[in-house]
Amino acid sequence: MRLLLLVLLAGSEDFLRQTPGANAPSDLDRWRADEKPEGVKPYPDAPPGTPNPPDGLYRYGGRGRSSYAPPTLGEPFEKWRARMEKQRPSVDAAARKVLESRFELKCRTAPGLTMSRGKLQPLGPTAKLPKGVKSWEEYAALGADAIARRDDFPFRPLDHPLQSTAHMLFPQVWTVAHPEHERFDVGFDIPGCFLPEFPPAMYLTTHKELGDVTRGVEVTYGNYFELFNGLLTGEQMEGLRLLVTPFQTTWFNSTHHRVTAAPSQGVACFSCHVNGHTNGAIELAPDTRPNYARLRTDTPTMRGNWALLIYSSKRSIRSMDHFAEVEEYFDGDTAMLAAIGGRTLDKPQTNRMGDFNSILDFPPAPKLDALNRLIKGKATEVELRGEALFEGKAKCSGCHPAIAQFTDNSMHDLQVERFYAGRPEGPVKTFSLRGIRDSPPYFHDGRMLTLEDTVLFFDLLLGTQLTADERADLAAYLRAL
Ligand code: HEC
Ligand code: HEC
Repeated sequence: MRLLLLVLLAGSEDFLRQTPGANAPSDLDRWRADEKPEGVKPYPDAPPGTPNPPDGLYRYGGRGRSSYAPPTLGEPFEKWRARMEKQRPSVDAAARKVLESRFELKCRTAPGLTMSRGKLQPLGPTAKLPKGVKSWEEYAALGADAIARRDDFPFRPLDHPLQSTAHMLFPQVWTVAHPEHERFDVGFDIPGCFLPEFPPAMYLTTHKELGDVTRGVEVTYGNYFELFNGLLTGEQMEGLRLLVTPFQTTWFNSTHHRVTAAPSQGVACFSCHVNGHTNGAIELAPDTRPNYARLRTDTPTMRGNWALLIYSSKRSIRSMDHFAEVEEYFDGDTAMLAAIGGRTLDKPQTNRMGDFNSILDFPPAPKLDALNRLIKGKATEVELRGEALFEGKAKCSGCHPAIAQFTDNSMHDLQVERFYAGRPEGPVKTFSLRGIRDSPPYFHDGRMLTLEDTVLFFDLLLGTQLTADERADLAAYLRAL
């Protein structure tokens, strides 16, 4: 009993205060006062439910009060829920305002430019041309220092709309189908136009002849057996079963530490990586503290993971089965896991999840040859010009080599903070560009809504001085991969 209580309370600040000999509150306070992070403001204390500071969390840095969060709310559930429901409209409006200040959110598409199952791809750039400049070429010519001084770089880091509570946040297209995942404290911010199609296709390396193996539906616990019996091995079948099984997680569980009206069974891997792809759900990278220092992460696809040597934007995890083992349902918080009731998967099970993941293929790219180069008779002139730029003037292939599925399997510090005053984000993994048209928004936090925005971003970042026509050629090429 004593042990259980300790486990429940371990990590909460109350626990520290009540335990003789543990850090007194004054020690905690002094830690913070001593820290003078450079170039940024020190993080404010922000218990769960605190609305984001309006100026953007990239302007803050340094140490938080504690590495641990209490698994209890500190108030009755009904009070917590009422408080969060009441403030939700202003939280949602603030998140919308951030997007509107940077991007044109009107949905632009073109007939024929679709994702694998037919949803129209969003076209850009959506970034609003900053005031006082006539063109992106003029803006690019200013250089990083001048842009940082102007303080209007459109591709600054994007926060979770309620970063103090954080954790999983599902787009509307998902919560319509799965109302049990609707949060009462915050809504999804990015409009549906800029998200992947739902449900997405699934391609298997082992059954290329079948094309999309989902028959157009969401693969669930209820239908996975009928869909895949006779196609998969027994081990892969078991891996898939676990990938569609919901497990309790921080804020989605049957305790009061939750953001769903009813107690929740939790979420499955495929609640975000639906059909082995992505629905654009977000969470925070679990790899640092305080919560305010954690980067927003947009769910990456699981397609083509067979080509990757490192996983996750910053954690450099080395295998798919290891990822399935550690996938951070508890934000890297050991006390939380014990209190809420964790996933109890053993090594053979996570290996099988990895076995299934390893046969999820990229979508077909009929214009690419065996070396992932465009086939002359099939590609358009525009796409071919785009490829030449990608390999040459635009400097993309250095980090996105075609032969290695457009990723160098490394991490790079892009030093985006040269363009704004704020905390550096450090090295991030190079994501693959195969099938990239299927997975907007782009970058680890989804701060770029279209492929045109990514091209514009890298042109600014790398100082390549591309013309508007060259940027259009490059975007057309990316859509062919
Ligand atoms: C919020 C919904 C969500 C759920 C549920 C989820 N993931 Fe993820 N997954 C993410 C996000 C976000 C990332 C990116 C994290 C990062 O960059 O650090 C990610 C990254 C990954 C990656 C690495 C991909 C890459 O390109 O680096 C793998 C593999 C993965 N998840 C597997 C799983 C498995 C297995 C499960 C179930 C145990 C799972 N995920 C459950 C959102 C989710
Ligand atoms: C110095 C290495 C480097 C170069 C050069 C580079 N990239 Fe990247 N690219 C990255 C990294 C690292 C990321 C992930 C960054 C992040 O998410 O914070 C990335 C992300 C992307 C993404 C988003 C992927 C996704 O899944 O969200 C696109 C699209 C992209 N790059 C296209 C390009 C194009 C086009 C060029 C050339 C104009 C280019 N890159 C040049 C390293 C590079």
